[in-house]
Amino acid sequence: PTERTFAMIKPDGVRRGLTAEILRRIELKGYRTVGLKLYQIPRETAESHYGEHSAKPFFGELVDFITSGPVVAIALEGENAIAGWRSMMGATNPANAAPGTIRGDFATSVGENVTHGSDSPESAQRELALFFAEGELLK
Ligand code: CMP
Repeated sequence: PTERTFAMIKPDGVRRGLTAEILRRIELKGYRTVGLKLYQIPRETAESHYGEHSAKPFFGELVDFITSGPVVAIALEGENAIAGWRSMMGATNPANAAPGTIRGDFATSVGENVTHGSDSPESAQRELALFFAEGELLK
């Protein structure tokens, strides 16, 4: 099915100058970008985005990190875009991420792993609504 997913370049990716490289990979893959913005995440939005991890020991660290600088918020559209973007990112733990994936090529830390992608249609819908207002997404 044609899907929309929420992709994000995390603060470490922006700080390290990986934005253009990651957008280049998305364009070459052929996804349609239907939303794009540089965004400083408010703390409350970060806590909501990571709500499912609120009981984890690393929750505070996660929220501190994701609000530590601007992110690039991206709405992608394409055939099986949810799984496809996760496959382009590689495994969450960069130690397990294959070469050729974004994390395999650019990350070493499970916390600072450069990108995010929604893991299901329900997460995609929730995260897109959290990061983009209706009028910010292309039809
Ligand atoms: P993401 O899948 O985008 O959202 C949840 C994040 O939790 C995940 O990326 C990791 O970056 C982060 N995470 C998972 N495990 C740990 C950990 N042990 N320490 C710090 N961050 C973690």
